[in-house]
Parts: sequence; structure tokens; C-alpha cells
Amino acid sequence: VIPDLLYDERVYDKNGKHEQDLSRVKYYLEHFEEFDGRYSIGRFKLNKYHFERLVNLYRELAEKGRMKVSIDEFLGMLENGAFDDYESEVEEYFRLMTGQVFMPNTPALINSGRPLGMLSACFVVPIEDDMESIMKAAHDVAMIQKSGGGTGLNFSKLRPEGDFVGSTAGAASGPVSFMHLIDAVSDVIKQGGVRRGANMGILEVWHPDIEKFIHAKEKNIGTNVLSNFNISVGIWEDFWEALRDGKRYPLVNPRTGEKVKEIDPKSLFEELAFMAWSKADPGVIFFDVINRRNVLEPAKGGPIRATNPCGEEPLYEYESCNLASINLAKFVKYDDEGKPYFDWDEYAYVIQKVAKYLDNAIDVNRFPLPEIDYNTKLTRRIGVGMMGLADALFKLGIPYNSEEGFAFMRKATEYLTFYAYKYSVEAAKKRGTFPLYEKSRYKDGELPVEGFYHREIWNLPWDELVEEIKKHGVRNGMVTTCPPTGSVSMIADTSSGIEPIFALVYKKSVTVGEFYYVDPVFEAELKKRGLWSDEILKKISDNYGSVQGLEEIPEDMQRVFVTSMDVHWLDHILAQANIQLWLTDSASKTINMPNDATVEDVKAAYLLAYKLGCKGITVYRDGSLSVQVYSVEGEK
Ligand code: CDP
Repeated sequence: VIPDLLYDERVYDKNGKHEQDLSRVKYYLEHFEEFDGRYSIGRFKLNKYHFERLVNLYRELAEKGRMKVSIDEFLGMLENGAFDDYESEVEEYFRLMTGQVFMPNTPALINSGRPLGMLSACFVVPIEDDMESIMKAAHDVAMIQKSGGGTGLNFSKLRPEGDFVGSTAGAASGPVSFMHLIDAVSDVIKQGGVRRGANMGILEVWHPDIEKFIHAKEKNIGTNVLSNFNISVGIWEDFWEALRDGKRYPLVNPRTGEKVKEIDPKSLFEELAFMAWSKADPGVIFFDVINRRNVLEPAKGGPIRATNPCGEEPLYEYESCNLASINLAKFVKYDDEGKPYFDWDEYAYVIQKVAKYLDNAIDVNRFPLPEIDYNTKLTRRIGVGMMGLADALFKLGIPYNSEEGFAFMRKATEYLTFYAYKYSVEAAKKRGTFPLYEKSRYKDGELPVEGFYHREIWNLPWDELVEEIKKHGVRNGMVTTCPPTGSVSMIADTSSGIEPIFALVYKKSVTVGEFYYVDPVFEAELKKRGLWSDEILKKISDNYGSVQGLEEIPEDMQRVFVTSMDVHWLDHILAQANIQLWLTDSASKTINMPNDATVEDVKAAYLLAYKLGCKGITVYRDGSLSVQVYSVEGEK
């Protein structure tokens, strides 16, 4: 933690020179012997060993010219409590991470303590309608992705294909072609050497190239077209109104502001749903929902128009976000009679710890671009999230697709946001609010959380919290996000994000042979009931990894142990909506549909998700892409 805080390559002087005054450091070192036992500056108490380590470290880095702060600033940070309880906190974070209680996003895991030092997963890059800006965007994407970040781009400001180009009197190539350019950049930049670049490409529904965009991944059979892009259509309220009222919808050239043509919104909606039905792309982003409670809008001077690659993080241009996810399964405890319960108090405690971790990560982060450094620190957005939801529900014996399940999701998310804010207010008292706070709508007692406006569903004293916020402000502009946790849930050995599990049992082929992977909570339950056998595992694996309809499995287990394919798409949407209710940002969620779902189902899913206040939707119809990451035996 400490080295990261003090070390900054970008201020390294090219001539190897530095101007830092080391007299204070020298003074402390010379007088060091006087501090026998404990050394204290303000609230900060260190034993001699740690103090020596800190000062030596400071000196060493200062001599290399790699200091971000002067010794006075450094001592000021000590006094302001930047390292309060540093020793015990370091140990505690170590315990929480190695205990698989929470995990930061992959970039934080792979880059911290290393020269790159880039800790964030989510970025949005602007792209304007000129070649300078387009190539700058390509550059920015490369810089972000080389250190493991994912980028979102809204291409809607680019003039449509075939439009006039002044400098050459030629024809423009349009947003979709430039998306291919960015895709090629991502292709050659392996993220931090560990994964391929991920992008979100967005086009707003009024853009003249919207139909081309919807079909951009039509030829995709797995990963051959725009393989580094998820694509999403950005929809605003006027489109829904036109659709509802049966009116024609204007497409507008962003260069001239002129209407190019009018379309039938019904047929565009149909095409969109059809492509999602057949190719799982594009998804849809509901910009009016994203901005409905966006308390940052007056401070940033406009609405949010983009998200990160997996859609869970709506961001302003050049904003970034660090994520960390708490493993809900770890909070399920058992009473004396062996009955499971959820430890809400411990959960509340950990949420505040994780919020602090992420808030500090903003300051120690070495951002890939100065614009990102600047904009991220204006809003100080953090993404406290959760994973292991399905495993927690298994342990608690609550079906994912039940009112009880949805109530648990709401409460878990309400706690997440409430206690993330609780940390943020406390931090604001000590370290100040985020710089744009004064211009935000927090000042009027508003929160960017839908659930806050529905008093009847509160479990926690939101009134009190808002009073605190109005008095002291908050340190973080937004606080909660639920990412997919594709890698980190594996490291934490828990079910991913907010999703049901993919299969209870599936066959894995490795060099030494084949074996069954069994969900650990399910395995324990089978063994407890004396049902564990090779035959039953094979039977479940052959049944698409599901226990539905298997007579050997008792009915109560069939209700609780559901897989994503067992959960009806309506219930997937209800889960997403219940979780969205209490998040400041958004959640990554796939709405799984069976292979025989229809385009009408997809349309209905979009409308329902919109009506229920989801910020976007991604539908995946089983088998619609020929390549899947995992595969259960029954499909072969
Ligand atoms: O589990 P992990 O921290 O690796 O990532 P995740 O929760 O699956 O994804 C979180 C975010 O990381 C995504 O929304 C992207 O912004 C970014 N990401 C990426 O850039 N490239 C990937 N291959 C995966 C994730």
C-alpha cells in the first residue's frame, strides 16, 4: 500500500534530476533514535520499525525523483489519517482477501505493487467526429487495455457512412467501420498480458447508421466478427414514446443536426430483437433510466452516454471505476441447531472496509492517461459489488426464483449501498468530499438510488443517512456496481456475480482424463442426505447440469438448486430489477432464454426490463452462438 502511494513514474524527471527538498527527511532520520518505542503524528501511531521503513522508503524514492508528494505533504497525509491503523488494516485486508471474503477487480490483483500500477477495470473514452479524435480514441484504448482495463465508446457523434467529408470532398466511412478499427487495436494489445481487450460499442437509436450497427455482428459465429466488442443500442425515452404511439421516428445526422429520414420504430425494434435473438448482440442500454436519478448531472453538465464493456458501469467520458466484489456466501453462518442464517452485521462491516479499499485505490492508482486521472478524481466513483449470490441462496435454502429470493437480493443490495455511503460520509468528514460534490444533487438530499424513493421497502434508516450526507457530503460520487466477476469469482471459489449457477454438475476434460465438477454447496447437500454417487452425477450432467425432474432428488432440493436455464427469463429480469433498485450504478446480468424462445419473447423482455427500471438488458438465447465458454454434456 505504502509504496504505491508514494511512487509515481510519470513525474520521473527525464534528466534524472529532481528538485525535492530532502531536509525534512534527513531531519527525521537523524532524530530517529530519539523516538524510542512508538512514534506518533496526529492520530497516526507507528512503531520505530515501521516509521523507519516509511521514511527510508520515502528517501529512496525521492532520491530517484519518483515522488508524488513532498515530505511535508506526506507528513500531512499522516496527520490527516491517511494511514490510520495502517498495520492492522493491511493485515485485515490480507485476511479478507485470502479468506475469499472480497476480491478487487483483476487489474488491481495483477498490477498493484508492479510498475504499471493501474488498478481499474472500467473506462469510457470519448470519440468525436474528426480524424484527430478518432485516432486519439484508438490510442487511448491501447493505453487503457495494455494494463488490463476495459473501454466503452459511444460512436454516435460520428457522421454516418457516405456523409460528406470536407477535407477530401469524399465520403465518410461511418461509426461501424471505426468500430472495426478499434477492434483491430484491441486485437493486438493483450490486456496486461493476461486477457484480450474488451470494448463496449454504443450507437444511439437516432443515428442514421443504426440499422448497420444492429447488424454489425450478424456474421458472427462465435468470435470471428468484432470479437473484442459487445455492442449495445442506446435508447432514449422518445424512442419508446414513438413506439408506443405508433409514430414515425426521426434519424438525425450528428454532423448537421438535420433529420435524414424517418423510420418505423416498430420495425427497428423488431430487427434489434431479432439480432439479439439470433446472435446475442446487440444489447440495449436505457439511457433515460441511467440518468433518471443521476445526481451528478448538474455537476458534469449533461447526461451519461456510455458504459464499460460488460454494461455494469455507466461512466462519463474519461471516467474510470475500480470495482471490488464481496462474496455473499461467506456470510452464511449456522446456529447451534445447524440452521443457516445471514450475518448482516458482519456484512455491513465488510462493505465499509471494501468501500475504503476502493476509495484509497483511487489515490494510489497510476492511471493510464492524465485525462482519466483528472476526471476520476473529480467524482471519485467506486464500485462496491457482490458475488456468490447463488451460493449464498443455496446455503440459505432459498430459491433464486422466488419472492423470498428477490427479497434477499433487495436487502443484500440495500445494505451494500447504505454501508458504502456510510463509509463515504465518514471519509468526507476526515478527507473531504469529492470535488464536484457542491454542484451535485446530493446537496438537495437526492440519491442516485431508485429504492431510496420507495420508503415502503426500506430495511435501513435512509432518512438519517441523507441528513448526514447533507451535513458532511460524501467522498464518492457513486458507490455500488455488480460486475460479472468472471475471473475473481473463480479465485474466490464462488458463484459468479449475481447470476444463478450455470450447471450443478458438469463434465470437465483435462489431460489426465474426465471428471465431474460439482458445485460445492450442492455436493455437501447430496452427501448430507446420502444421495452422493457417480450415477447421480452422471444423470445430472446428462440433464444439462440440472436436477429438475430427476426423481432421485427430493422436491425441496429441486426448488432450491436451480441453474440459469432452470430460471425462467421473467425471473431473470425480476432478479436484475430487484438488484438494480438499490444500486447507484448498474449490474451485469444475462437474461437466459431457452433455445425455443421467440423474437416476441425478446421484445417482451426488453419492455419489461425497461418498465421495471433496469438500466439495460442483455439476452442470451441458448445455442444462439456456436461457441460457448462452458458447455454442459447434455448439449453435445
Ligand atoms: O472478474 P474480473 O475482475 O476479472 O472482471 P469482471 O467482473 O468479469 O469484469 C469487470 C470489468 O472488467 C468488465 O466490465 C470490463 O470493464 C473489464 N474486463 C475487461 O476489460 N476485459 C475482460 N476480458 C474482462 C473484463
